[in-house]
Amino acid sequence: MQTEFAKKLGIDVPIFAFTHCRDVVVAVSKAGGIGVLGAVGYSPAQLKEELDWIDEHIGDHVYGVDTAIPQKYEGMDKTSPDELVAMIQDAIPEEHRKFAAGLLSSHGVPELPDKDDGVTLSFSAVQGQLLVDEALTRPNCRIIVNALGTPPAEIIKQVQDSGRMIGALAGRLKHGINHKTAGLDFVVCQGTEGGGHAGEVTSMVLWPQMVKELAPLPILAAGGIASGQQMMAAMSMGVEGVWLGSMWLNSSEASAEPAQRESYMKATSEDTVRSKSFTGKTARMLKNEWTEAWEREDTPDPLPMPLQGYLTFDAVRRTHKYAGVAETQKVAFNPIGQVVGQINQIESCRDIMTRLLTEYAESYERINSLMPE
Ligand SMILES: Cc1cc2nc3c(=O)[nH]c(=O)nc-3n(C[C@H](O)[C@H](O)[C@H](O)COP(=O)(O)O)c2cc1C
Repeated sequence: MQTEFAKKLGIDVPIFAFTHCRDVVVAVSKAGGIGVLGAVGYSPAQLKEELDWIDEHIGDHVYGVDTAIPQKYEGMDKTSPDELVAMIQDAIPEEHRKFAAGLLSSHGVPELPDKDDGVTLSFSAVQGQLLVDEALTRPNCRIIVNALGTPPAEIIKQVQDSGRMIGALAGRLKHGINHKTAGLDFVVCQGTEGGGHAGEVTSMVLWPQMVKELAPLPILAAGGIASGQQMMAAMSMGVEGVWLGSMWLNSSEASAEPAQRESYMKATSEDTVRSKSFTGKTARMLKNEWTEAWEREDTPDPLPMPLQGYLTFDAVRRTHKYAGVAETQKVAFNPIGQVVGQINQIESCRDIMTRLLTEYAESYERINSLMPE
């Protein structure tokens, strides 16, 4: 299984792994695909540390870095990260803070020992730019990808001038067309099944539309792929590769706590919901008492991005760190796609890749066997 796009990148198979975990990046790249590190939860200094580690362990293999610069967000006029964060913190209503804190305390989620440990969120152009600057100092980082919109023109030029490729996610055809018009090198087309921020259209409907309308731009298929059969379905529609996110969350290399792994393995495909309750934009995650509480008539509505993300960042970190404590899983942030129903065991990234390729070959055999003699 090989495509022109994968050859251009220098990878053996066109399997792209979105992950927040550096160990997964290295494991997938070493197994012949390419790991892409989600950097939205890192300050530039933390990203430097993660990329130093990746560079030390990845050998000659390539990887990517993913930013999350929304097309539109509160505070777009701010030119310094400190000014932006101060504006956001001021704009979060007390009622929302109390409601979020109450949900955590009523479920027994412990406080973090040190709230001001420098961990931050980078949901803006001014912060994303610093992450891109860091990523571009790394020779093995060959792609930059942006979630939530077309990246700013200066970043597109900067990445392309450095000899690398830049792409972006799209959950609507309109967004894919915007990416193409802006001159991106590829588009990751994510159907509604996918984990994290997701639109309304299914992968089965969206992938072929994007391939047709954006040709000859390479399209990577995302949303709902966790087996070689699903990979085959995507490849048959003309995409240049597959981009998986949920599948790596329960891999042995992922930094998931045992209670979080248990939540994934117990969940069925009906247990996810698209909710604005953590980031302010619709993202797919495991349904729980937190997602339901923010939907009620008598509770505050989620704030716009990036305010809701800053409001809930404490909850995200606490529910991750104390995943197994008290009733944490009832209010935990567990973004994952509908393929969660297919995640029933812990596998290494290499085993996942081998399984995907074996199943892909088996489904090819099946399709061939249906052809008339
Ligand atoms: C836990 C999680 C977090 C995600 N965060 C981001 C992100 O920060 N940036 C991004 O481009 N995509 C993000 N995504 C979406 C993935 O890149 C990918 O498109 C999606 O997971 C594909 O669908 P799947 O979950 O069915 O594999 C996230 C997905 C998950 C599961």
